Amino acid sequence: MKADLIVYNIGTLVTSKELERKSIGDMENIEVLKNAYIAIEKENIISIGEGNYPVELKDEKTELFNAEGKVITPGIVDSHTHLVHYGSRENELPLKIKGVPYLEILKQGGGILSTVRNTREASKEQLFNKAYEVLNRMAKFGVTTVESKSGYGLNMETEIKQLEVNKELNKKHPLEIISTFLGAHAVPEEYINDKKKYIEEIIKMLKKVKEKDLAEFCDIFCEDSVFDIEESRYILNEAKKEGFKLKIHADEIVSLGGAELAGELQTVSAEHLMAISDKGIDELVKNKVIANILPATSFNLGKNYAPVRKMINKGVTVALSTDYNPGSCPCENIQFVMNIASAQIKMTPLEIIKATTINGAKAIKKENKIGSLEVGKQADFIIYDTHNLNYIFYNIGINHVNDVFKKGKIIVKNKKLVF
Ligand code: NIG
Ligand code: FE
Repeated sequence: MKADLIVYNIGTLVTSKELERKSIGDMENIEVLKNAYIAIEKENIISIGEGNYPVELKDEKTELFNAEGKVITPGIVDSHTHLVHYGSRENELPLKIKGVPYLEILKQGGGILSTVRNTREASKEQLFNKAYEVLNRMAKFGVTTVESKSGYGLNMETEIKQLEVNKELNKKHPLEIISTFLGAHAVPEEYINDKKKYIEEIIKMLKKVKEKDLAEFCDIFCEDSVFDIEESRYILNEAKKEGFKLKIHADEIVSLGGAELAGELQTVSAEHLMAISDKGIDELVKNKVIANILPATSFNLGKNYAPVRKMINKGVTVALSTDYNPGSCPCENIQFVMNIASAQIKMTPLEIIKATTINGAKAIKKENKIGSLEVGKQADFIIYDTHNLNYIFYNIGINHVNDVFKKGKIIVKNKKLVF
């Protein structure tokens, strides 16, 4: 077999291939190669290793790319975003600064409900164009796969509209989009006094979304004064019956027992977890639920970070994502999240790379295809403009990614989009 592309002279290649753990709390168990190469045929990796590339892989058509001794990692998987929505909420900033709590703004009809009003009014084209621009910026930061939730429609028509935009983006943008139905994100104003009725609506939406094949996952905002444990259990069980894989926004602000529920239902992931209990942590471990941590949200809300070190020590699989959304975290920059994880949560560079690559892929059940650089897997990788991995976490606040390859094709070159 001949390669279409060989990237050579890679100083440090973090493949994110998992190695055996040295202890339960070992999260640095990923492979790091020195002076390495990657050979690609079409969309996939056909050879990878240290030293010079095997000459027999090259013919006159093979393109050679010199990595100039820099750092390469798998493309970043942003496994939790609320990508598709309309409008923005900077008008709530003075309230936030004065200390009005996030859930209080929601109760007053602001927050998520204000974005719902804008998203219902927006055309599909407007939603698509806004999200497309965000994806472009995410790509420049090194992201190659994005999970995208609905949840700003809260009625059949607009939830479907958001998910159809996900589908369209997946077709038209080089980044891959994994679609999640989040009809249970809040109770819309028209049902504010009849939550039961809205839950019935959600069940109807679940069926329609599956019928139209618009989402792989179902998520829910399990939170004080949003959906309680019992309601979350009911909705997620119904989703499971329809064939959805499950996610849950759990124990973000109030410790309700969302992580325990995630364990009970064996959801793929539990998200946020700033207020997780010790029992909740044990349940995640026991049931192999991924903890998807969103530290830019803690940062932006001025709240505590999830007890990540405790989780790692107990053997939880931890992923990190942006939670990009118009309210609690209007942050598109995954490298900012990585900086916070290093400086505030004290995760090490290898732990952070693991959390944003192979563990991110696990959070969306795509670890067989993406998240690590191994023979047979998709050639999604990024070249950092540095010769030392630590530099990314030392020089904070700038974009360190120079080049991005998605499915073997370059999509960002010298920090510029080239598709
Ligand atoms: O993950 N917490 C619930 N949902 C989002 C925020 C949505 C919004 O504020 O618009 C989150 O933080
Ligand atoms: Fe979220």
